[in-house]
Amino acid sequence: MDLGIKGRTALVCAASRGFGKAVAMQLASEGVHVAMCARGAADLEKAAAQVRRAAQAAGHPDIQVLARSVDVTAEEAMADFVTAVERDLGPVGMALVNAGGPPAGRFFELEGEAWDAAYRLNLASAAALCRRVLPGMMERGWGRIVQITSVSVRQPVENLVLSSVIRPAAHALVRCLADEAAPRGVTVNSVAPGFHATSAVERLIDRKIRDEGCTREDVLAGWTKEIPMRRLGKPEELAALVVFLMSEAAGYITGQCLTADGGWVRGTF
Ligand SMILES: NC(=O)c1ccc[n+]([C@@H]2O[C@H](COP(=O)([O-])OP(=O)(O)OC[C@H]3O[C@@H](n4cnc5c(N)ncnc54)[C@H](OP(=O)(O)O)[C@@H]3O)[C@@H](O)[C@H]2O)c1
Repeated sequence: MDLGIKGRTALVCAASRGFGKAVAMQLASEGVHVAMCARGAADLEKAAAQVRRAAQAAGHPDIQVLARSVDVTAEEAMADFVTAVERDLGPVGMALVNAGGPPAGRFFELEGEAWDAAYRLNLASAAALCRRVLPGMMERGWGRIVQITSVSVRQPVENLVLSSVIRPAAHALVRCLADEAAPRGVTVNSVAPGFHATSAVERLIDRKIRDEGCTREDVLAGWTKEIPMRRLGKPEELAALVVFLMSEAAGYITGQCLTADGGWVRGTF
């Protein structure tokens, strides 16, 4: 299937590992120029090299990959990054709004500062990035914004109170922006992953082992028992959904929250 995005430019946030990296790899394989950021420079450079190799292997040796160490919560640094991307790779046609997740914990374990930090990481940074990239997309009459949230948008997750409260607000932002952007040819959607095999989930497993004195196998068995697919997702599976939402073919899908969780959420809608 021709996704119709070859030659466009995508900004992929939080891209040195996990979902962000998987999305960057698939976009480059589709012939898209990719600008990627994360905080840690070493992992980011390694990931950028893998993305370049993915583009070459797919027959797109001319694809440009730009990697810059930026914290998505640093609004000015992100604005500078977007300016550099537009100068070096061309106008941003697609953006993956992504960041690390807020720390695990129950309500009485988390102080006010943790709430402020979660707001800055998973909501304010998303709004700031959309403020920066959306006007150009609307002016040009084409654009795709996809935000990574979590199944906690649909159903609170045990021991993840910050995610369960902030993520639904992040999708509400997507819904509001979708209304404003649709008449100008821009779609705005979110994807809500369930448990996927990334380093974020490895950290959750380590915490459970520490808190509950159980084994890694116990943790995985406990989770997969609740997942009808009986396994964790692969980051590449979520990336395929994101890249489809960024494609020409997905031009009539906007304001949606698409869940990819192996059937974990039991709600009818
Ligand atoms: N994996 C899952 O099962 C799952 C399920 C639901 C939701 N999610 C959410 O999906 C998002 C991505 O998760 P993942 O599984 O891909 O995590 P991951 O494997 O830990 O990767 C996180 C990426 O985000 C970067 N990052 C973290 N904080 C950042 C910041 N402030 N600014 C820029 N980059 C930042 C990290 O690099 P640096 O640390 O070097 O910055 C890394 O590249 C998270 O919000 C997570 O909570 C994950």
